[in-house]
Amino acid sequence: MMIRLLLLTMLVITVPALADDQQRIEQSRQLSMQLGKQLSAELMAAMKAEGPVHAISVCNERAPEIAQSLGANSNAIVGRTALRVRNPNNAPLGEHKAVMDYFKQRIAQDPNVVPEAWFTSSNGEQHYMRAIVMQPQCAACHGANVKPEVQQAILAKYPDDQATGFEVGELRGSFLIRWLDK
Ligand code: HEC
Repeated sequence: MMIRLLLLTMLVITVPALADDQQRIEQSRQLSMQLGKQLSAELMAAMKAEGPVHAISVCNERAPEIAQSLGANSNAIVGRTALRVRNPNNAPLGEHKAVMDYFKQRIAQDPNVVPEAWFTSSNGEQHYMRAIVMQPQCAACHGANVKPEVQQAILAKYPDDQATGFEVGELRGSFLIRWLDK
């Protein structure tokens, strides 16, 4: 029932939404893409300069900082989540899991789509989600063959890490933008 409701409300994004919604959806898209771009730029620079072990601490410190600074100018909390998380702070709610199950199906049907969702969460906030697909450059830290020294560095910071073993093209996770005023 929960999932059916969500899928129905998620359709909002494909049909003309209310003007207010449309503006928020567009802002959410922009925030997600900025987070993706800034993170990716810093991560790749760190990887190139000093390798994946060092880049893990960059990601560990900078991912939450970049996300926070992006949200600071709006009334939104900007972040990421996944079905299998590295940082337990990124763990999804049940409704986010349902959306990501749907994303997985969509990507399996058509690898060229970047599925999105826009819905009212169970606590009354409006949430936007946008799929994050696993790329080749993510494999050093999220792939099936993470090097032992990288694995060790990950486990030192994230003892409960679940975020390895992903194949390129698979759903890695989702951007999550939570609008605080209902
Ligand atoms: C240098 C290692 C490294 C690389 C390369 C890397 N990541 Fe990560 N990733 C991390 C770390 C560390 C975290 C935890 C960040 C935090 O504490 O918020 C993380 C977290 C995430 C999360 C948030 C959900 C979670 O599991 O906590 C997503 C989504 C994600 N990465 C996707 C990607 C994608 C997509 C790529 C490739 C474009 C990528 N990562 C490349 C190390 C890496």
